[in-house]
Amino acid sequence: MGPGPADVHLRVLAAMARPTIGHLDPAFIGLMEEIKALLKYAFQTENRLTTPVSGPGSAGMETCFANLIEPGDEVIVCINGVFGGRMLENVERCGGVPQVVKDDWGGAVDPAKVEDALVTHPGAAILAFVQAETSTGAESDVATLVELAHRHGCLTIVDAVTSLGGTPLKVDDWGIDAVYAGSQKCLSCTPGLSPVSFNERASAKISNRKTKVRSWFLDLNLVMGYWATAQKRTYHHTAPINALYGLHEALLMLREEGLEAAWARHRRLHLALRAGLEAMGLTYLVKEAERLPQLNAILVPEGIDEALVRSRLLNEFNLEIGAGIGPLAGKIWRIGLMGQSCRMENVRLCLRALEQVLADLAAPIRTGVALEAAQAALRDPPTGALPEPAC
Ligand SMILES: Cc1ncc(COP(=O)(O)O)c(C=O)c1O
Repeated sequence: MGPGPADVHLRVLAAMARPTIGHLDPAFIGLMEEIKALLKYAFQTENRLTTPVSGPGSAGMETCFANLIEPGDEVIVCINGVFGGRMLENVERCGGVPQVVKDDWGGAVDPAKVEDALVTHPGAAILAFVQAETSTGAESDVATLVELAHRHGCLTIVDAVTSLGGTPLKVDDWGIDAVYAGSQKCLSCTPGLSPVSFNERASAKISNRKTKVRSWFLDLNLVMGYWATAQKRTYHHTAPINALYGLHEALLMLREEGLEAAWARHRRLHLALRAGLEAMGLTYLVKEAERLPQLNAILVPEGIDEALVRSRLLNEFNLEIGAGIGPLAGKIWRIGLMGQSCRMENVRLCLRALEQVLADLAAPIRTGVALEAAQAALRDPPTGALPEPAC
């Protein structure tokens, strides 16, 4: 129950144990076509250019920036946590000119500040931001930010590493131009693959580049020679065959459950966990309206050694939760409810274990109430606590 990787289902692990075949084998090419179709479903898009990058979420991030930025392009980068900071690094390394919009760690990206930046920098070509900031548990309003960007003539790059499969993400309805995700969070696959999707406007910017993409490996003009059409595949790199078997199976499981049902499960179990934690007297970092269901950032009670709590949870309960990072190190725990980890038995385990360890350390918590509160929230979810996913 950390910030990822999430638990991987045995079906996915079993799929990955199938015999390795060639990356140009007709059977594998069929599987690649299925993966692209399943990814389109997960992203809610018809984008032709929808594919898994052979590398972790960071490789998907670099793919977006390296392909869309040409030297001298002005890019508005929103930073409200660790991963916005990584976007800034990418802009600089691609020779872009960053204009940074800062928000507090623990809050969403503020659309008013973004609009100011778009007005102040009318030449900006791209707006980049993170939908689900894993370092803080805050969710930003993608539809509003994309709409603003388009009104000012900008393309958008959206980080959906932690959101894909766990919280509403509608690439076509919201008009997102480029998006990247990760296999190891709410998709519950093993780490190491990064689904990406680019719409026609973004694809046109890539094919009309005046300069070569600075990374040979991530240059989509070359990668798509291998992934684009089933009829003609050209060798680019040896695809991670078994990892892709796993992604295929994880995406099948998502489709079997249904995307809306998966979003609703994350929301429901988040509300159960929240009810238990709050009954104990613990509080969230992020205000309710901006909270991610799949990443619960909880303030560490005064005087408690947060690392000791995590190591006791791990050693005594076989339960991993995450620490705070950057300026939030030592101040929060990050409890993940992602993909296959998002189950009521995990919510119960987490509440029981935290209660026992915190009571042992004489933390000022209420005992004996958390489990019942969680169960009650599951039976009767509080209305209006989080917007219902729009299905
Ligand atoms: C929001 C976000 N973006 C990007 C990444 C980078 O992904 P990876 O660690 O798979 O390279 C992460 C990883 O946790 C993330 O949470």
